[in-house]
Parts: sequence; structure tokens; C-alpha cells
Amino acid sequence: MLFFIDTANLDHIREAAELGILDGVTTNPSLMAKEGISGEKNILKHYRTICEIVGDGRDVSAEVISTDFKGMVAEGKKLAEIHPNIVVKVPMIKDGVKALAHFSEIGIKTNCTLVFSAGQAILAAKAGATYLSPFIGRVDDINWDGIALIREINRIYEIQGYETAILAASIRTPLHIVQSAKAGADVVTCPLSAIMGLFNHPLTDIGLEKRSEERRVGKECLRL
Ligand code: E4P
Repeated sequence: MLFFIDTANLDHIREAAELGILDGVTTNPSLMAKEGISGEKNILKHYRTICEIVGDGRDVSAEVISTDFKGMVAEGKKLAEIHPNIVVKVPMIKDGVKALAHFSEIGIKTNCTLVFSAGQAILAAKAGATYLSPFIGRVDDINWDGIALIREINRIYEIQGYETAILAASIRTPLHIVQSAKAGADVVTCPLSAIMGLFNHPLTDIGLEKRSEERRVGKECLRL
């Protein structure tokens, strides 16, 4: 399973990249706004910087703002020109599906976003989306089961032989990452906090403390 980070924050991207386990980045307009990035020139520049930080061959999703076919295609082409890492993120709406099919025909990679059902997942796969982003956290928020959705889509894609990669999005916790892996997600995109949460285990902390205590006692014995 690939690990993407879901942020436009350059420090977080650098920190995850330095861990040596980062495979890509996803962003959205709210995440860009959170970093105070606005205006076409600045947005394109920020995407280029992200691509340079993560290095070649690591996909970076950049979302279109338009909701009509023509607008999405024009925006998507502009985004794709920034860097070969760019994947055009398109919403799961009628014109979005048309745009996904168009991008797939002309060889531009895509990420279909705002996916909340198996039916939508089938449409995106039929349109040739590279990635499909079911939002598991937002499904959980309304008291449905986000992980069950990943499991269902995974089963359908296996039966039908669809090649679209399942990118579990809207991840809130380290447990979501583990559950997504078990449910068959090909990729998880998560905030840095969820990735860092994977490290935590009290027995690791106790083990480390024990080791340093043993080293301290060992040194004292040598001195005697
Ligand atoms: C990723 O591609 C999505 O934009 C993101 O995971 C949404 O997460 P949220 O539900 O926390 O906004």
C-alpha cells in the first residue's frame, strides 16, 4: 500500500519525505487556502515546489476548481503541464466523469475525488480514473462505515478487473490507515499526525527505557 500525505504544508511534506516512506501527496483547495496560497501563479508555483520536494515518480494530486467539462479540461491541462508528477483531481459529478474519460484518452493521470458510494466507484473506473478517492472519515462522520466502503469497492474492482487504484482519503487516525490496509486500499492519503501515530506503542517506550537503564547499570558495573 502506498503512503501519500494529505496536505499542502511544505514542512509536513518534508518531514514525511525524510522518513523515507512517502510515495506522494494529495491536496485540495481548502488545504491550499489553509497555507495561505492563493492566485493562479502562486498556486502553480506551490505545486511545483511540492513536486520538487517529493522527487520524480511520486504522484501529486492537484484539484480543479471548475465544475463544467470545458473548465475542468482547461484547468487540468494547465496543472498537468507543471510537472510530470501532477495528477489531476476531478470531482465525482457528471462533467467530472466526462473529464476523467477525456484525460484518460490523452494520457493525463487523474484522481476522482468526493467519492462516497460503490456506484460512483464503478463510474470512475469505467471512465479510466487512475485513482479513486473514497472519503472514509466523512462517511464515518455521518455514522456510516467508511472502511466497509473501501472493502466493497475493492471486491467490485477485483471481480471486474478494474485497474483504478483505491486511494483511501479523509483519513483521520492511525487506525484508519491499518483498517484501510486490511480492506484492500492501494493507497492511503493521511495527515502527518495519522502517519506519526503509527509509531506509538507503550511497550516500545518501556523497552527503550529498559535498555537505557541496563546500559547505565552496565557502565556502573564496569566502573566498580
Ligand atoms: C484527499 O484527497 C481529500 O481531499 C481529503 O482527504 C479530504 O479530507 P477531509 O475529509 O479531512 O477534508
